[in-house]
Amino acid sequence: MFPIEEIRQQFPALSRHYNGKQVVYLDGPGGSQVVESVIDAMVSYMSKGGANLHGEFPTSKETEMHFENARKAIADLVGAKPNEVAFGQNSTSLMFSISRSLSKTWTSQDNIVVTEIDHRANVDSWSTAAQDSDTEIRYIPVNTETLTLDLSQLHQLIDENTKLVAVSLASNVIGTIVDVTAIVKRAREVGALIAVDAVHAVPHFFIDRDQIDVDILLCSAYKFFGPHIGIAVIKEDVFKHIPVYKVKPAPSYFPDKLETGTQNHEAISSIEAVVNFIASLGIGSNRRERIHNAFQIIEEHENNLACKFRHELASIPEVTLYQAPDHVTKTPTIAFTINGVKSNDFCKWFAEKHAIFIASGDFYASTLADKLGINETGGWIRAGFAPYNTENETDRLIQAIKNYVASNIKKEIKS
Ligand SMILES: Cc1ncc(COP(=O)(O)O)c(C=O)c1O
Repeated sequence: MFPIEEIRQQFPALSRHYNGKQVVYLDGPGGSQVVESVIDAMVSYMSKGGANLHGEFPTSKETEMHFENARKAIADLVGAKPNEVAFGQNSTSLMFSISRSLSKTWTSQDNIVVTEIDHRANVDSWSTAAQDSDTEIRYIPVNTETLTLDLSQLHQLIDENTKLVAVSLASNVIGTIVDVTAIVKRAREVGALIAVDAVHAVPHFFIDRDQIDVDILLCSAYKFFGPHIGIAVIKEDVFKHIPVYKVKPAPSYFPDKLETGTQNHEAISSIEAVVNFIASLGIGSNRRERIHNAFQIIEEHENNLACKFRHELASIPEVTLYQAPDHVTKTPTIAFTINGVKSNDFCKWFAEKHAIFIASGDFYASTLADKLGINETGGWIRAGFAPYNTENETDRLIQAIKNYVASNIKKEIKS
């Protein structure tokens, strides 16, 4: 049995009420709620006395210990080594920083490959750096029927002059889990680096960085029950050689060299608690094993809710669902539109009437949105399930959509 009540008790925000109703949080892909032990860790760091690094006094040593523990925890979360983990403002800023550094060696003979399914953070960070060095930018197209990447031209797209391939592990809008196997294989054949955007993936499934065999992996703790902080995991061999932009006196060794300026110490001090929360949901003889097991349990719970929701949505004629075919694995993130309804109006009504917090827009997956013509109608409505969501909340959501369609759309058609 999934320990839903035990989990919910650990998220203080879940007790919030709005307009007399208990809030339902369904914008996990935009940012999850934060677990209490994480909040406690941040408060504890600040109330016990914070400090900067490299001091010969207890609070400074404690701060360094928090960095160490945070790196260890993220290494366990994604299957990497602690010294391959760097922190930063958010994933987007880290991507910009890494791309700017890597592109110093790119030339006009080279190319980079990005995709049409990605959040623009994993497109524009690389493509702006490429533009600065006159490097060609190529796109792996998305098939608008299947909502998966079209890999039929992969061998031509990724060639001997490709320096880097940037691809998402999962779409933050339609939930498609991208099978990167063929992309990684081709990139390896030609010696290109591989950067994966795991921002939407890490909260939903077990990641084994070495098994997927990627050089650069980005994620953000605020998507998996933690604070707003970005995380870059870079393979030692690659990290060593990245000529980062940094101030002269700052460390030139990795991972510290990527951590420009003073980091968000209170957030970093809570990272161990974030990962320990996930691990606490599983069993195993060490943290990595517990995380592995926890994701099996989380996936089962989230997929049950998502399946029910997808099934019910598909039965409403006025709703258009944007999802890959059944055989394609997906995160519990569902995008849809309602005929003739402006998505933001719907979300506002949902919040005011039902205290259901659900988001609309293109969610920065704007290439995909443009290709599907979604921007013309105010974007998608996106529901994303998290481990703390319940069947009862899913039912509330389904019923509210049915009521909305019945009372608003039918009324409009009559009048
Ligand atoms: C898939 C994906 N990539 C990248 C980002 C950007 O992350 P950050 O806000 O940490 O810059 C997001 C944020 O929503 C995202 O969903």
